[in-house]
Amino acid sequence: MKNIVLFGGAFDPIHFGHINMAKEASKQLDADIFFIPAKIAVWKNDSSPIEDKINMIQLAIEGEKRFHLSRYEADSQEEVNYSIDTVKHFKESYKDSRLYFLIGADQVNSFHKWKDADELAELATIVYFKRPDLELSDENIKRFKMKEISGGEVDVSSTDIRNLKSLETPDSVIDYIIDHRLYFMQRIAGYMSEKRLLHVISTAKLSYEVAIANNLKDAKKALIAALLHDIGKEMPMSEQREVMAEHFRDYLNYPPAIYHQFIGVYLVERDFDIHDPVILDAIMFHTTANSNMTDVGIIVHCVDKIEPTRGFDSTELINALKSSVIDGFAEVLKSNIDYYTKRNIDYRNDLQMACLNQYLK
Ligand SMILES: [Fe+2]
Ligand SMILES: [Fe+2]
Repeated sequence: MKNIVLFGGAFDPIHFGHINMAKEASKQLDADIFFIPAKIAVWKNDSSPIEDKINMIQLAIEGEKRFHLSRYEADSQEEVNYSIDTVKHFKESYKDSRLYFLIGADQVNSFHKWKDADELAELATIVYFKRPDLELSDENIKRFKMKEISGGEVDVSSTDIRNLKSLETPDSVIDYIIDHRLYFMQRIAGYMSEKRLLHVISTAKLSYEVAIANNLKDAKKALIAALLHDIGKEMPMSEQREVMAEHFRDYLNYPPAIYHQFIGVYLVERDFDIHDPVILDAIMFHTTANSNMTDVGIIVHCVDKIEPTRGFDSTELINALKSSVIDGFAEVLKSNIDYYTKRNIDYRNDLQMACLNQYLK
């Protein structure tokens, strides 16, 4: 390898911001990139296990020939990893390569405080990505001969992903988070039984698949809404009634079994601080449906009813939805009515009727 960029960080989890920066750095410096996850993020103690972070990096960089993972810091026995040790390790392992060391733009002004900063800058060229929101002083840039890289910006943070405010990371990483119940998934699990959680996961993955199959630009919103759609369902009915009386009085006379679609919205706003109208709307009408639904709302409503753990053969309905949201919706509505009629269930509330009048003419 001629040129190597050392890219250390918490990667908790890795996301498109990291990946795009790595791509830009690789292109502009004609370099291979080593992702070097830190064993623990020193500024917090609730970091996820290093093996999970490593697995997610591996998933995210799969197929990128110039991207590599380094376990150097993860496997180190030291209490604290200093960058200077990492750089020295790479200098020894890749004697003929030119080393670059990527730092965050927010660390440029304080770089002189790093351990052995001068030696570090001798062994590796310090590079950073320009950020329009940060005022950088020339002092350290000149003293340590730092090099600026531009482009590669994606407005996403690991914190946002942990909090389910964004899912701007590769699908393989999203699946990993869901399957290993990390971050937001751990929180969602706290609202429900294992059985319901499996239904939620199935609904979320299939909703996303359907949204992607329909080329929806809001596909990630379908995933987020589906992950959250049933978090109100296991709240004790007495509490549900109280929340309904206070926040959704208009729907208090609806069958209590559908309260949870409104309770879900209440909890999502209160506990997850998510206020996106498309997401909230999809949760709010996932049981009854409504008129004037968004594609995301239609998908979550339909998939909730037909996802595979529901225990009947829904392959045809799923395929219908995948080829067209609106045509598939009509098929699902017909099959719902069929189901209700056979079992003598009264489905004729105002919301459901508004939906049928518009979409099943
Ligand atoms: Fe539900
Ligand atoms: Fe559900």
